[in-house]
Amino acid sequence: MTEELAGNELSTASLVQREAQGLREQFQKLYGAEARIFRAPGRVNLIGEHTDYNEGFVMPVAMDLYTWVAAAPRGDARVHVYSQNFGERAEMDLQDLHLRLRRHWSAYVLGVAASLRMCGAEIGGANLLLEGKVPMGAGLSSSASVEVAAGYALLESSGLSRSPVELAKICQRAENEFAGARCGIMDQMIACCGRTNYALILDCRTLEFRLLPLFADAQFVVCNSMVKHDHAAGEYNARRADCETATRILAEQMPGVRALRDVSLGDLERYAQLLPEAVYRRSRHVISENARVEDARGALERGDPESFGRLLRESHRSLKEDYEVSCMELDLLVEIACGISGVYGSRMTGGGFGGCTISLVRSGAVGEFRSAVAQGYERATGRKPDIYMVRASDGVREALE
Ligand code: GLA
Repeated sequence: MTEELAGNELSTASLVQREAQGLREQFQKLYGAEARIFRAPGRVNLIGEHTDYNEGFVMPVAMDLYTWVAAAPRGDARVHVYSQNFGERAEMDLQDLHLRLRRHWSAYVLGVAASLRMCGAEIGGANLLLEGKVPMGAGLSSSASVEVAAGYALLESSGLSRSPVELAKICQRAENEFAGARCGIMDQMIACCGRTNYALILDCRTLEFRLLPLFADAQFVVCNSMVKHDHAAGEYNARRADCETATRILAEQMPGVRALRDVSLGDLERYAQLLPEAVYRRSRHVISENARVEDARGALERGDPESFGRLLRESHRSLKEDYEVSCMELDLLVEIACGISGVYGSRMTGGGFGGCTISLVRSGAVGEFRSAVAQGYERATGRKPDIYMVRASDGVREALE
């Protein structure tokens, strides 16, 4: 183990303890009781964007940024939650699952409690204290980390358990039904199943996944554009609808087709004239992106960052031109990154219209990368980008003393 790595692990361990202790004390003040502490990570997706809801492939990594939840059971059937981030409380009765929560932070907690009950997990009442350290609106999946941390805490406080895959599905259902976002399953799966030092390659149809070790001598680095454009949620749903249109039209020609996952580029070309032009380009992105995930797996396994970097650049071009989910700030970050020596490739990551980019950088060039991106982006936009090194972390767990 290198000295740098050992240092990182030590500081992570003491950070975890400090975080957990602070939350425990806060819980004691709020509810007058002892709490257990749980945490679930945010994520960054290396490649495979807008493929999850097309039953395709994704390659996310759990990051060492967490949502923390302190929890203890209550004697009744109510869930009470206090959010440190919003300085607000919310509550629900577990006998009444008709929640009206859309667009409120509590949807991601109380929606999960309702979803657990709806899926047959007879959780009891609980007091919760929530503290999110995953930046919100940055495309690092703060919402899935809240859902998964809360879901796990509610199960554990009731002496129940569910497999990581079941918990991911329950949390996705909560987001779809109570938060009103038609997200796929990627974010909840990685928050449940992430592993230190590994990326996951996930088949979003079967939910089978494999762990892939990251590069030994190249680093993934996340740059936050610090913008999130308002139309992001509406455009996300519109892209899903385009993919559904494509699937419906193509399935009439090819009866085995259930999702764009089942269509090859050759099939798409054959029936191109049946699709509206934009729907054709959306499909071309999804189909080519699935192939890039498979190629990226090969590049990781061979230890070939050059090929991986080329795939990142191709993915960005496809997301920008065919899927049309990028924006000026993301394009600029990618352009700056790709002009720095020692950078293999870069692309937008997550849903798009703001949020973050992911870049693959030779380990020795990371210092230069950080300062060149920060300067270039600030000069052009007036905004200072947050920059995070990707340290792959574990999925949801209890933070033990
Ligand atoms: C958001 C969604 C995910 C996925 C990505 C795009 O993060 O929550 O399910 O669709 O966008 O890849």
